[in-house]
Amino acid sequence: MGINEEQYEMIFKRKSFRRFNETLKLTNEELCDINEKIKTLRPLIDNINVKYCIVRRGETTCKRGEYCLLIYSEEKANYLLNIGYMFEQLDLYLASKDIGVCWYGMGKTQEAEYKNLKFVIMIALGKTEPREFRKDYTKCKRKETKEICKGVSGLKTIAEVVKYAPSACNTQPWRIICEENKLKIYRTTDIKSIMPKEKVPFYNSIDIGIFIYFLEITLEYNNISYQRLLLNEENKSDLILMAEYNLLYL
Ligand SMILES: Cc1cc2nc3c(=O)[nH]c(=O)nc-3n(C[C@H](O)[C@H](O)[C@H](O)COP(=O)(O)O)c2cc1C
Repeated sequence: MGINEEQYEMIFKRKSFRRFNETLKLTNEELCDINEKIKTLRPLIDNINVKYCIVRRGETTCKRGEYCLLIYSEEKANYLLNIGYMFEQLDLYLASKDIGVCWYGMGKTQEAEYKNLKFVIMIALGKTEPREFRKDYTKCKRKETKEICKGVSGLKTIAEVVKYAPSACNTQPWRIICEENKLKIYRTTDIKSIMPKEKVPFYNSIDIGIFIYFLEITLEYNNISYQRLLLNEENKSDLILMAEYNLLYL
């Protein structure tokens, strides 16, 4: 199985872990493997400096998992999309290794800076039993496909899969408009959530990065190649155009 094929399969297995069996521990080999994997994550944008460190949970306000991965980044254009895109690759990879993960936006650390880069977000990590992973992805709470995807019906099958991307408070801020051989990806600002309003653009931008990664592995899995154009165009409506994909069917 190719790397992306395995990542695609993990879309259906992954979930956010909120309860960890405290008796299970990650081994040193597993921690080394996580470090090695992080070095190979594909950035969405090439010239943004990103650093990370893995600390014990107790060094943060996080109440779950054995370790927390603290992520730091340069604050260049679309850096939050870049963080979502990169570290979702790790979420999917760790599902294949039976390591539980939870993006943890609420978490705080005292290390607000690392090597001059600002703290962005943390991810809780811990060993889990294989049986704790998702068995039937269709049972997890997501919007109806027609709520998030409009346009040419042939691409609805792609939307049926990518809508299972994780997002802060499950807000699912993505909207897709399918045109002939083109996908337009928007972030809606019409979000109802318990998150403080001023925090919504921050978390929802990470979510869009995660979603874009789900979209790309799903297109690749379906042998649809694409050219991606990143945008950040606000208009008068509550939709911000984030990316356009020109599709080429193989
Ligand atoms: C950017 C981001 C931040 C998140 N922050 C938290 C958090 O602080 N606490 C938490 O319990 N879950 C958090 N989550 C997990 C979401 O609640 C979860 O992805 C969503 O409910 C969908 O469920 P699933 O991941 O199990 O498919 C976060 C997810 C993302 C993508």
